[in-house]
Amino acid sequence: MTRGRGANGERIGAGVQSDQASKPIGVFDSGFGGLSVLRALVDLLPHESFAYVGDTGRYPYGPRPLEEVAGFAHQITRFLVDEVGVKMVVVACNTASAAALDELVAEAPVPVIGVIEPGVRAVAAATSKGRVGVIGTTGTISSGAYQRASATVSPQTKLFCAACPGFVEFVERGETDSDQVHVLAERLLSPLRGKGIDSLLLACTHYPFLARTIGDVMGRSVLLVSSADETAFEVKRILESSGASAPASGVGAQVYYSSGDVEWFRSTGRRLFGQDLDNVVQVVWE
Ligand code: DGL
Repeated sequence: MTRGRGANGERIGAGVQSDQASKPIGVFDSGFGGLSVLRALVDLLPHESFAYVGDTGRYPYGPRPLEEVAGFAHQITRFLVDEVGVKMVVVACNTASAAALDELVAEAPVPVIGVIEPGVRAVAAATSKGRVGVIGTTGTISSGAYQRASATVSPQTKLFCAACPGFVEFVERGETDSDQVHVLAERLLSPLRGKGIDSLLLACTHYPFLARTIGDVMGRSVLLVSSADETAFEVKRILESSGASAPASGVGAQVYYSSGDVEWFRSTGRRLFGQDLDNVVQVVWE
């Protein structure tokens, strides 16, 4: 099996076969956060179909040991590849990317990309002072994955990292700009104020849904950056370079798999994603 590299030199694992063009792209997260990445993917690649797994029955991943999250990531990737038949997998979750991306890249029979390197590239391009904040779950921040990726991709950038436990739970409840989340943001983001940062990387795919609150607390001089767009461009480059893009004559469809309550997924997902989630299917892990 040929193991390839993306346009930016990162390892993506197996090549994608051109005869797989009409297959969907798999995307997964612990819950609703990956919808921020799916939004960018659907907007950039309207002809592609997507299969999204929101592991809402087991969220949040952030406080769990990384080995446990890695087990979930392997299980979901196997489901997407073996049962759904996707042509590539986007790990739209920083915690799962930090826990398992290297192993998934090495083992999966389709290309696998995460959100960490795209995020680092996006924030390195955005900063003019070279001083950036990075906020994520406890698992992501304590893994050191951002420091390692930044040392490779953009060694001149100085990172100031902070874990934000509790943010994900607010998003999963669909509560994105309440007084309570504002108070929490004031407390969690205070270590980053006064550090002279000009950009803040939202290194958890749930956090773009809190952008208004985070932006209010950090002030207008700090640019908020997410990995979503850069990840979508990376997917586009991989598909184009392997001749595996869906035919431009087609219209893509989305199917959603939730390991939690399907009605909750449909209603909260619609609010966060900005469109009806028609095709939501229950998934039960063995
Ligand atoms: N959205 C995820 C991330 O990017 C996971 C959040 C969680 O489940 O704690 O890290």
